[in-house]
Amino acid sequence: MEKGLLDLHNTLRWIILFLLILSIYRAYTGWKNNRVFSGGDRRIWLFTLIASHTTLVLGLYQWLWGRYGMLKTALPEGVSIMKNKFYRFFWVEHPTFMILAIIMITLGYGMAKKPVADEIKFKRAFWLFIVALLFILVAIPWPFRREIGRPWFPGM
Ligand code: HEM
Repeated sequence: MEKGLLDLHNTLRWIILFLLILSIYRAYTGWKNNRVFSGGDRRIWLFTLIASHTTLVLGLYQWLWGRYGMLKTALPEGVSIMKNKFYRFFWVEHPTFMILAIIMITLGYGMAKKPVADEIKFKRAFWLFIVALLFILVAIPWPFRREIGRPWFPGM
């Protein structure tokens, strides 16, 4: 089960990236073309929200009880979190940036329900989603990153 949860956390990254880019596209074209905010826009934003919150729950599990979970792992003798690239990334940087990104996605989705002009909805959501995307891209343990790199897909 441990492995299955981690694999799911890994795979959801692609779903989030796909949905987030689609959400950004809808927000941008809605803003620039003065489109009316539609049920289709709301649905895409909602799926992005659901995917990101599911990843958050799986991430919290990894963070606390996963193979390097903070409640399960004793730091090796002489290692301090902030001086060790691996632990600093998985215990501090990755969770912090991802939680901030998920907050941005949540605020972006919140624009769907705000009683403001559609142009404002699209514009604010666009910027919130862009920041979320940047945070996620920076905080993913891409395979080419030294010491912290992880596979593109589970099982690779
Ligand atoms: C948009 C949100 C997130 C994305 C896209 C994401 C993506 C990833 C990816 C691709 C991995 C590598 C998985 C693998 O080794 O196969 C990973 C690992 C990990 N993530 Fe996330 N993550 C997100 C949110 C979070 C959050 C919010 C937390 C903690 C609160 C978290 C904690 C972890 C931990 C601890 C690992 C290492 C697990 C291990 O190697 O045993 N993640 N994440």
